[in-house]
Amino acid sequence: MADYDLVIAGGTVVTPADMFVADIGVADGRIAAVGLNLRGQRTVDAHGLLVMPGGVDSHCHIEQLQQGGGADEENFITGSTSALAGGTTSVITFSTQFKGHGILAPLAEYRRRAAKAMVDYSFHQIITDASDEVIFNEVPRVVAAGVRSLKVFLTYDPLHLDDRQFLRVLAAARRTGALVTVHCENYEAIRWRTAALLADGKVAPKYHAWSRPSMIEREATHRAIALAEMVDQPIQIFHVSCPEVAEEIARAQARGLKVWGETCPQYFVLSADDMDRPGFEGAKFMCSPAPRDAAASEGLWKLVRDGVLDVCSSDHSGWSYDTPVGKRVHGLDAPFRDIPNGVPGLGSRLPILFSEGVSKGRIDPCAFVRLVATNPARLFGLYPRKGTIAPGADADLVLWDPNRTVTITNSLLQHIIDYTPYEGLEVTGWPVSTIRRGEVVMKDGIVQAEPGSGQFLARAAYDLIKPTGNVPFGFDASAFLV
Ligand code: URP
Ligand code: ZN
Ligand code: ZN
Repeated sequence: MADYDLVIAGGTVVTPADMFVADIGVADGRIAAVGLNLRGQRTVDAHGLLVMPGGVDSHCHIEQLQQGGGADEENFITGSTSALAGGTTSVITFSTQFKGHGILAPLAEYRRRAAKAMVDYSFHQIITDASDEVIFNEVPRVVAAGVRSLKVFLTYDPLHLDDRQFLRVLAAARRTGALVTVHCENYEAIRWRTAALLADGKVAPKYHAWSRPSMIEREATHRAIALAEMVDQPIQIFHVSCPEVAEEIARAQARGLKVWGETCPQYFVLSADDMDRPGFEGAKFMCSPAPRDAAASEGLWKLVRDGVLDVCSSDHSGWSYDTPVGKRVHGLDAPFRDIPNGVPGLGSRLPILFSEGVSKGRIDPCAFVRLVATNPARLFGLYPRKGTIAPGADADLVLWDPNRTVTITNSLLQHIIDYTPYEGLEVTGWPVSTIRRGEVVMKDGIVQAEPGSGQFLARAAYDLIKPTGNVPFGFDASAFLV
């Protein structure tokens, strides 16, 4: 007689802490048992494969509304398809605010759009206008609705916040029990260097990297940490591109601050040289912060091993190359300043990280699981429902062939974007099957999931992001609505 709805039999189970051969019994979409000789109504044979928690991508832009009207090309169906093809079962995407507007109406609109998703999903609430109404009335309501992270940009027109506005967001997060995630680059320094580059006729995509060298990211990271320390508000620094920036985070962590660091696959395998390809081709690799060089990439691995950078998300932000609405929206001669930033990466995140990390001997499979699933789930309040393999967790799993070598092509990734910056990259290690809440939703690259079968993940209060209680002179300024 079968004890479970489904048994994944004979694989090497990889948890955040250990690896062992076992069966996994699934009942009602959850992991019910991890053991030997389990019997299910259905069996998936996993002999010779790794069985890991489904990926949790805590930073990806899907169907994000644009200031000028319309939304990101990648929608919740195509984004889900790519995520599932690549072994990711949960995503945290964004609800954005436009200056002069509130955040409640956009969140309702994102909830409506995301109802089509086939992955489980949550949102970070972007704040671009820290008005009294938003900070004092709307943020508490958004957080109470389960959107327990706020996102701010310290650069980009028209998104960036000045320091005073940033402080107001930090204080609102402290009062409501939310995490703040930060895009750290110095707005004025980029504008100044960009003006000089354009004045000198340096307009090609490669000058994107020249406009924002690493000290611009390092300064903003240092400032974000100092201001968060003053407010006593936990933060995560998004998309760290190089060791100098991560070292700011390491120093903060050594002082006992709740500061976490995220990096992304593009900072391990791309470099500023990629933006120096002939003609407009470099635009395919343009993202912010800019990819640096091979030494920076290698240096990031050490900071991953040391635990300073403990999350690797995709920062999927796709703009097609050959369509009039994507990278070339302002024409093929557009100066770098006017080319949309961002690279697609939902489906390639796990294969690149596994290949560069595990297959090349830089990290072990448990560290890989922590980086792409457990740590993002913990940091964003989804653990232990997501991000691990243990009784009670959702049965979100990826069955992985660690020996399969694949040359990445865009079609394998199944996103809507018409290119991948990783075209031709050879990876060792590939997802064979993805299981979401006990349902096989991808097998051998074929994604079969009902649109709308993804669930909204409302995130309740959790201890990890509680303030430390240390404020300068014992005076908690965030208690005042200023
Ligand atoms: O270039 C990037 N990273 N675009 C996406 C938006 C962001 O900054 O995260
Ligand atoms: Zn960013
Ligand atoms: Zn982003």
